[in-house]
Amino acid sequence: MSTYQTFSADEKPLTILDVRNAKNKRKLAMVTAYDTPSARIVDRAGVDMVLVGDSLGMVMLGRKDTLSVTLDEMIHHCRAVVQGMHHALVIADMPFMTYEPGPEAALANAARLVRESGVRAVKLEGAFLPQVRALVGAGIPVMGHIGLTPQRSAQLGGFKVQGKRADAARVLLDEAAALEEAGCFSIVLEAIPAPLAKAVTARVSVPTIGIGAGADCDGQVLVLHDMVGLYNEFTPRFVKRYAELGALMEQAVRDYAEEVRGGTFPTPAHGFGMDEEELARLESLLDGSGTDSL
Ligand code: KIV
Repeated sequence: MSTYQTFSADEKPLTILDVRNAKNKRKLAMVTAYDTPSARIVDRAGVDMVLVGDSLGMVMLGRKDTLSVTLDEMIHHCRAVVQGMHHALVIADMPFMTYEPGPEAALANAARLVRESGVRAVKLEGAFLPQVRALVGAGIPVMGHIGLTPQRSAQLGGFKVQGKRADAARVLLDEAAALEEAGCFSIVLEAIPAPLAKAVTARVSVPTIGIGAGADCDGQVLVLHDMVGLYNEFTPRFVKRYAELGALMEQAVRDYAEEVRGGTFPTPAHGFGMDEEELARLESLLDGSGTDSL
């Protein structure tokens, strides 16, 4: 079975062009997903873009950061997401050290991600311009990501707001312009002051997607597990909790365990009976009066 997105005639998948054209017309909603069931849910909910983020290392695999996520792990999760997707544009994070070494490595690894999983675009953290040019030149759409770039959190001194000083803000403005010029179709702005995000958004012609960057970006992204209450290790201030699914799941499993222990689950309605005749035969086999032996 192909892992590539398939569409019926009346389903129109969102394209890179649709994303670019949304600028100044409508806001874009993006969320992460890491498996087929959640991909189906967010796609049905009507988001524009789905990011298979390397945040999966933390929220799905229980690691302390994103650095150890491998290309093979990303491909595994991307395939699952692509299989559940009909409308939204799927974008995959390039994991740490799969693009930093240079354009050649970036191209080889992005090609694997696209060909083996069926995602249609990739996201790179930081202003690695030769890498962006190489991928865009080869036909692989690239989303940029600046501000707080978690893969470089050690260098940034932790998960901290970036661009608070005017000189640092200037660097981010320049990086955004350079990423646009290198061919990015959109740029994620993470954890930067709202006035700076507004200025970046006004200066680039591609849509900015904010996370902790205020309301003036062209769109927003959140990590699914943060927004629905499935990840509680650390909740950044910019996250809004729309549901408490973790608590809901815990209660459901508590109820189940209690019913198993109390003998109230399963009921006959959850199981399978036997024909009267076959049951009588079985009983005679069991008590030794039947002709067949067990
Ligand atoms: O990995 C991720 O989920 C991300 C988003 C937070 C933008 O990069």
